[in-house]
Amino acid sequence: MPVYNDTVMDHFMNPRNVGEIENADGVGEEGNPVCGDMMTFYIKVKDDKLEDVKYKTFGCGAAIAVSSIVSELAKGKTLEEVKKMKPMQVVEELGGLPKNKHHCSNLGAQALIKAIEDYEAKTGKAPAKAAAKPKAKAAARSKAAAKPRTTAKAKTATKARGGK
Ligand code: FES
Repeated sequence: MPVYNDTVMDHFMNPRNVGEIENADGVGEEGNPVCGDMMTFYIKVKDDKLEDVKYKTFGCGAAIAVSSIVSELAKGKTLEEVKKMKPMQVVEELGGLPKNKHHCSNLGAQALIKAIEDYEAKTGKAPAKAAAKPKAKAAARSKAAAKPRTTAKAKTATKARGGK
């Protein structure tokens, strides 16, 4: 049974910013298939800053505390600042988490970043780097399609049948 410090307990017992934003500008969901915990973050954006952040978390005490502190850390920050948020920073802000609960801190940052990416995709504000990726993949696919389909396995099978 993990032992949580007072800060974690406070955020767990009195989570800040819980809820859902109607007509959110972005929504991001992240889960951990091993423990089954899920977080959904909702954001409102104004002037490239997070005007409002809310979440719904289904999970352990640490997951709820993480969601709460992430929402507090993110509110009022620019999108770029929030995208740089690291799970370890979340753990430090909470004054530490038991080692077996560190994965809970990943969920918060990732769900929030997904909400920002959702906003950027909807508004066409995705960074140039991310927008270039699908093109690179498409070019790689068309290159692969242009190559002959014979593989080492197919050659071996042809030889085994007495062919060349
Ligand atoms: Fe998995 Fe907390 S136990 S998020």
